[in-house]
Amino acid sequence: MKITFYGHSSFSVKTGETILLFDPFISANPKAAHIDINKLEADYILLSHAHQDHILDAMAIAKRTGATIVSNYEITTWYEKQGHKKTHPLNHGGSWNFDFGRVKYVNAIHTSSFPDGSYGGNPGGFIVFLKEGKTFYYSGDTALTMDMKLYADDQPGLAILPIGDNFTMGVADAVKCADMVNVKEVMGVHYDTFGYIMVDHADAKAKFAAAGKNLHLPGIGESLEF
Ligand code: NI
Ligand code: MN
Repeated sequence: MKITFYGHSSFSVKTGETILLFDPFISANPKAAHIDINKLEADYILLSHAHQDHILDAMAIAKRTGATIVSNYEITTWYEKQGHKKTHPLNHGGSWNFDFGRVKYVNAIHTSSFPDGSYGGNPGGFIVFLKEGKTFYYSGDTALTMDMKLYADDQPGLAILPIGDNFTMGVADAVKCADMVNVKEVMGVHYDTFGYIMVDHADAKAKFAAAGKNLHLPGIGESLEF
């Protein structure tokens, strides 16, 4: 699987010929000004929750690419009402077999209102079991929670975790989360985008390294192979 980071909590995963795009918030992120959302490909768009900094570009990309939006029931229903009918609703603890693999929607401790104030259901994360044999956990925006211990049973090889603190886990709790889900490889997200969530990269990497883990902080537009 190839992961490409698009800034904040936006990234895509390419598995075979299929592209999964997560939480696209790109066009309003000055740090991602070199990414053109009109050129991004997506077969599926997975949304962890309804906050603006996770859904901003979802509709534009879904309309242009015809991608299926995968999220909780309230979010997929909202997109259907806005005119995008290609959706797949999930709810917590549920999973579904797609052509690329299985997606499970799991718990997150956060909030989830839409920018217009409408109800975005409860926020979540995803465990994705790719048919190519790789499994990864994307926590979405969340606090550290004991539920994460359960996800170790799914044996993810990679976790994509927020590290920016203030609105989500910070570095110290993200290290604990990586321990709880039993992963060595972590990609950090939800940091440096705005003032509240600035992170000292060297210090963050050192804290993960001290726990025997690798923190990956790819540049915006950069790809990693796992
Ligand atoms: Ni959020
Ligand atoms: Mn967020």
